[in-house]
Amino acid sequence: MEFEKRDWPNLQNKVLSAILIDDLKEAKRLLQGNDEALIGISELLEKTTGKPTPLKNLTAQPPREIHTAVSYTCGIGCKMCGSGFHDKTSLFEDYKQLSPQQFDEVMPWIDAAELVVYVGQGETLDNPHIYDFVKKSAGKHSNLTTSGVPLTREKMKRLIQASLKDINFSFDGLTLAGHGSGNIKYSQTIWKQIDMVQSVKKELGSEFPQVMITMVLNKENVDQMEEMIDSAKERGVFLLQLDVMVPHNPELYEQSIFTDFKYYQKKINEEIKKGNEKGLWVRIGDDTEIKDSQPCHFIDKMLIFNLDRYLPSVCCGPITMPLKIQGYSTDTYWNSFPFRYFRFMHGTGKSETLPVACDTCWAMNPLKFADQMQPKDNDFKARPLYLEASELKNQNKWDEAEKNYKTIIQNSDNPVWRGKAYFHLAEREILEKNYPKAYTLFQETVKNYFGHQLAFTYLYLLMMLLEKKQEDSFSLERMQCSSAVSGS
Ligand SMILES: C[S@@+](CC[C@H](N)C(=O)[O-])C[C@H]1O[C@@H](n2cnc3c(N)ncnc32)[C@H](O)[C@@H]1O
Ligand code: SF4
Repeated sequence: MEFEKRDWPNLQNKVLSAILIDDLKEAKRLLQGNDEALIGISELLEKTTGKPTPLKNLTAQPPREIHTAVSYTCGIGCKMCGSGFHDKTSLFEDYKQLSPQQFDEVMPWIDAAELVVYVGQGETLDNPHIYDFVKKSAGKHSNLTTSGVPLTREKMKRLIQASLKDINFSFDGLTLAGHGSGNIKYSQTIWKQIDMVQSVKKELGSEFPQVMITMVLNKENVDQMEEMIDSAKERGVFLLQLDVMVPHNPELYEQSIFTDFKYYQKKINEEIKKGNEKGLWVRIGDDTEIKDSQPCHFIDKMLIFNLDRYLPSVCCGPITMPLKIQGYSTDTYWNSFPFRYFRFMHGTGKSETLPVACDTCWAMNPLKFADQMQPKDNDFKARPLYLEASELKNQNKWDEAEKNYKTIIQNSDNPVWRGKAYFHLAEREILEKNYPKAYTLFQETVKNYFGHQLAFTYLYLLMMLLEKKQEDSFSLERMQCSSAVSGS
């Protein structure tokens, strides 16, 4: 499995990465004799010598939660599966599980964290090394999420011996899109598995792992919440964690709560309240109600190691950082410029500064998300226009290329295409040394397409050059985890 090596750094990547971790000396050294390769960057590097580091105060303590995927296989076949197992049992021919060596690479992050979550990407218990992994994180709070199907008494004993703290059954009741596809026998089996866990704990005299359930809600199972709450309470489950089914195709959208969000929001909130009154801990996200909009509760809190172990995610959404971990310390990576800028974007509290992916994420803005999911008639295709613009640009026909980029920005529903188009407009301003205009356009680039490394590097240098003090509009109170920000 060569996935991780695919994007291993070339000179450009090394230079840009050095800048994004504030090592401008190293970037200059790498560019010596090679400055033609990145002429715009070289020029800006010279102009910014001695200027203050951008957003240097927006650093934070390492993430409290580390999530790590351990397997790339699953045989359950949930229709809703966001990991891609709805129509397959394996993601790759030659890569099935996380190896002990790969796990060890995450250990510095685990050492700095409080909670380690073993989840997926396929079925967590498919990895035969899982017991050793859990054992290695024994000093931390650990959580293992599983469908529950492959669990046996023997496996449960090994997990208890490895000091697992929480076991989380993904179980949605009876729904076609969820675990067990609405089969009553599947449902009965999972309740028996939960009973089995409690019985093994008793046998070994262990109070851990605590048992929790994650129920993913859609139209079909919302009315089963009360039954789920009663059955869970009866079996000593300590937490019913609710989640909302995120649809990834039109069929799932029709089954999701987003077709009539306000109606389902009311129902869900009423059931959560009733469940908590009955004495079971019931929550959605980390709250007891689903709101119209709220700050993101993931910010500065977690890092998720999924497929590309050198490119972890800050949440389960589509934000990708424009920087790979390349032998950096946890502190260097976590406080590199893209993370500081991400904090700034969330800290302003303004929808206009948020990454588009966050502003329309269901966890922050379910109403906007629901609106965005509505089927639309827009049949605009960005790709052919974009390719044509690249051709025009290569022929130095900038004015014509620019028209195409502007058409993409005005008409495309896809923020990634809009971000790419903004990037080219910004690049032109760099060539013409129109730096304030370039700065605004690079801001738009990363807002739409957060993973754009070159745009981020320009943004870094332009912030220095123009001495932009973005911290002025940053509010600690608005940050979800303000206590994690240094200096607070
Ligand atoms: C992908 S699974 C991997 C771990 C394991 N196979 C399991 O099901 O627990 C991780 C979590 O994602 C949830 N999930 C899967 N598809 C989803 C979707 N479309 N929307 C929301 N949650 C989803 C599952 O319910 C599960 O709790
Ligand atoms: S059990 Fe988990 S990984 Fe497997 S298909 Fe269902 S949600 Fe996906």
